[in-house]
Amino acid sequence: MSLLTTVAYVFHAVFAGAWVGALVFTTWKLLPLARNSDLGTAVLTSAASGLTTFSRTSALVLPATGLWMAWTQYNELAGLLVPPRGHTVLAMVVLWLVVTGLTEVGAARIHDAVDQGKVRTAGRDADRFLKAASVVGVLLLALGGYLSGPPL
Ligand code: HEM
Repeated sequence: MSLLTTVAYVFHAVFAGAWVGALVFTTWKLLPLARNSDLGTAVLTSAASGLTTFSRTSALVLPATGLWMAWTQYNELAGLLVPPRGHTVLAMVVLWLVVTGLTEVGAARIHDAVDQGKVRTAGRDADRFLKAASVVGVLLLALGGYLSGPPL
């Protein structure tokens, strides 16, 4: 494996883990505090901006590194048509679109409510989107874990 491919694997895995970690932490710990009015608007705005930054940076980092990984490890993309691993990578691309959309909508809901000074509404409105994004994100990491193991 070339150095460039190793770097792509490292960036892909670290970025994916950091993004899903931030999503899960926000959903699990911050949104309940917002729903109880135990959180200031500055913290919520900052958390929502952080999630948006992750989802937008992911639009560059994950497809770029992922495509390079697929080009080098999956027979210049032809291997993507071969089950189960090729199909798993294709599923990863689809789920990446889903988690990006859900993160964007969830963060936008927080911004909209906080702009009107409504902290509890922010916690309520973003909840189902960020919960769904977290579940899909963890599923993506699980698929990544499967792909990084030896072939079944
Ligand atoms: C356009 C989007 C994406 C593409 C094209 C892509 C593609 C790939 C490819 C080709 C691999 C290597 C498979 C192998 O070694 O057999 C991989 C591994 C992986 N992917 Fe993705 N992926 C994308 C999005 C994501 C997302 C959104 C996540 C999680 C949030 C993710 C997490 C992982 C993980 C954890 C691995 C294992 C990395 C390792 O072995 O070190 N990927 N991906």
